Amino acid sequence: MATQWKDSFSLHHETIDAQHKELFRLANFVENIDPRTITKIELSNLFKEFFNYMSEHFKEEEAYMESIEYPLPEPHRKLHQDIIDTISNTLKEKKSVQELQQAMKDASHKWLVDHILNNDLKIEKWAKGNRVTDNDMNSF
Ligand SMILES: [Fe+2]
Repeated sequence: MATQWKDSFSLHHETIDAQHKELFRLANFVENIDPRTITKIELSNLFKEFFNYMSEHFKEEEAYMESIEYPLPEPHRKLHQDIIDTISNTLKEKKSVQELQQAMKDASHKWLVDHILNNDLKIEKWAKGNRVTDNDMNSF
């Protein structure tokens, strides 16, 4: 079952929410493709589209963190970089259609859902003026 964007994922930031939705749309589109109907090159191109879109989105999110003086933006930036590195390694490796599709499924869970819930929503919390406690800060 493909992952869907939910209202609870909202950062109440129009551009960032729209970009997260588009990332889910792309991930779900790839997840639902019948692997017998697509070539490795076509699937790699879709993955690259997802990758490029995600890179642009991270820049937007990082600029937003800066604009609201989000505390400790560096660890968050590092997480983005790790995601980018992981995707670009996946694309470099010679993968079959099934492997690429599985990598995309993993991407939608680990890089979209987990990252939004565990990291991006902290930006939302900060932006709302609910300053985090020292305990929360330790988990940044
Ligand atoms: Fe993020």
